[in-house]
Amino acid sequence: MHSKERHTRADARIGFFDRLAHDWDGSEQDPVETVVQVERRAARLELRGGERLLEVGCGTGQLTGWLVERVAPGRVTAVDFSPEMLRKASEKGIGAEFRLIDVCGDELGRAEFDVALCFHSFPHFRDKPAALRNLARALKPRGRLMVMHLDRRDEINEFHRGVGGAIGDDLLPDDDLWREWLAEAGFDPPEISDGGDGFFLLARRGIRTGKAI
Ligand SMILES: C[S@@+](CC[C@H](N)C(=O)[O-])C[C@H]1O[C@@H](n2cnc3c(N)ncnc32)[C@H](O)[C@@H]1O
Repeated sequence: MHSKERHTRADARIGFFDRLAHDWDGSEQDPVETVVQVERRAARLELRGGERLLEVGCGTGQLTGWLVERVAPGRVTAVDFSPEMLRKASEKGIGAEFRLIDVCGDELGRAEFDVALCFHSFPHFRDKPAALRNLARALKPRGRLMVMHLDRRDEINEFHRGVGGAIGDDLLPDDDLWREWLAEAGFDPPEISDGGDGFFLLARRGIRTGKAI
């Protein structure tokens, strides 16, 4: 078996999110409230009609339909590595392409996307520098990486530590680490805000990307 495959299959988070998938839209995260809250913060995303958007860690697709409307007539590719999450998303009849992808290792494409959005997903990527290098390659030069959470970084990190198990160490990095990893992957310095409106990071891909994953 290829070492990358072994690594992916060993990721206990896949089983963790597979188990959560059946009730994600019920007891875990209210899909209506998700869209209401993101809509309130829509200006910061600066999405435009015609853009190619990559949604990373789409889960059950709570936000995917809204993203499709925002970038139409552009297109959305929504990826997740949990087969059960992706199955739930695919069943909703959303006009996006859904793909089973591990962002830490699988090919996402080369210079294809204007925007890559990680909504409520980045802390869970087991190899974050590798994910960032992969995303840099998938973005067009000057393409935007956005990492968005409705809560503050310290709240998210405390929550994940409290849940423990497979996601107990799934933390949003501090600003210094973000800058280091993004620069290494070939992104320009990020804009980061972390406060009452939650956590938001924007970084543009430079003209050249960093090391290959
Ligand atoms: C907390 S859930 C959020 C899902 C969705 N964005 C939402 O807000 O409803 C995080 C998602 O990231 C996915 N994920 C975690 N690590 C991943 C990876 N390495 N590659 C792709 N997806 C991943 C999980 O399977 C899960 O569906």
